[in-house]
Amino acid sequence: MTDDLLALKAETDAALAAATDLRAWDAVRIAVLGRNGSLTGLLKDLGKTAPEARRARGAALNELKDALNGAIEARRLALEGVALEVRLAQERMDVTLPPRLAPAGLIHPISRTMEEMAAIFGAMGFAIAEGPDIEDDWRNFGALNIPAHHPARQDMDTFYVPGVDADGRQRVLRTHTSPVQVRTMLNQEPPLRVIVPGRTYRADHDATHSPMFHQVEGLVIDRAITLGHLKGCLIDFLRAFFGITSLPVRFRSSYFPFTEPSMEVDIGWNRKTGELGGGGDWLEILGSGMVHPKVLANCGIDPREWQGFAFGMGIERVTMLKHGIADLRPFYESDIRWLRHYGFNPLAPAMLHEGV
Ligand code: DAH
Repeated sequence: MTDDLLALKAETDAALAAATDLRAWDAVRIAVLGRNGSLTGLLKDLGKTAPEARRARGAALNELKDALNGAIEARRLALEGVALEVRLAQERMDVTLPPRLAPAGLIHPISRTMEEMAAIFGAMGFAIAEGPDIEDDWRNFGALNIPAHHPARQDMDTFYVPGVDADGRQRVLRTHTSPVQVRTMLNQEPPLRVIVPGRTYRADHDATHSPMFHQVEGLVIDRAITLGHLKGCLIDFLRAFFGITSLPVRFRSSYFPFTEPSMEVDIGWNRKTGELGGGGDWLEILGSGMVHPKVLANCGIDPREWQGFAFGMGIERVTMLKHGIADLRPFYESDIRWLRHYGFNPLAPAMLHEGV
């Protein structure tokens, strides 16, 4: 190679060495091999060379071209390797670090109780039924054998909704989940086995009553259903729900217009310690009874062919008893500290206790 070519090679090597990233490297490449590059210029000038010198000059230029291409390519590979190292170092992550926990929501105790009830009654073959919060007075009272001037209507401190529905019936906020018994019997053919968790409303507000609260209703309609079925079902449910296989359960004669006979159900507890189970004291927990023949007839079911039992209980009340929650009001206050304390992990399924 002639001196001018050796000089270009040396100059290019120096420029490549000085290029420390791919952008600088590309500028060198273009300055040498580009359309106006130094090597390109020399190759164009070859035609002007005297014919006798052209051969040697051409061979030397080719040699230079190979050398430059090789040097440029080698520098690219080196710089790409460096860039990869830098990127790997930047994006490095320590897979042994513990994961950052995403903030998890918790299940409200009322929802949790409803889930548990669905699981326990579900295992006994009950389906879930629902009805609207705004009812009519026939389904909330009349069809359930609660006549217009019956004290139960006043006892329940009904919220009346202005206006009447399409059938001319007074609208009310349902005072209990029992109207869904009526809806279920009117809409489905027996045999029936449903529970009805839902919101209920009464114009009553103090430390132990909220104007909105929750109940669960139960209804079983079949042939030859007896008080024995009612008792077995509720004893099993209460023992499973409270997780106490030996929980004492007592049936006490009572009165509801929609059942005959009617019974209130008590569970054993210790009044002094609040502990459920033994202790010798009794705590009322739910209302129940054999569905009144008039209620069956009001709902289009022949009482000579079908019998059934029903029950209803307050969800807040059993939740407070089960988890030792002393005060009703925080259930509705959305206080995040209370929810963190009493809420349930959504990934832990409602457990069925032995005895079901
Ligand atoms: N509906 C009643 C109440 O709100 C509870 C109840 C009692 C429901 C007896 C029933 C039942 O289905 O048979 O106080």
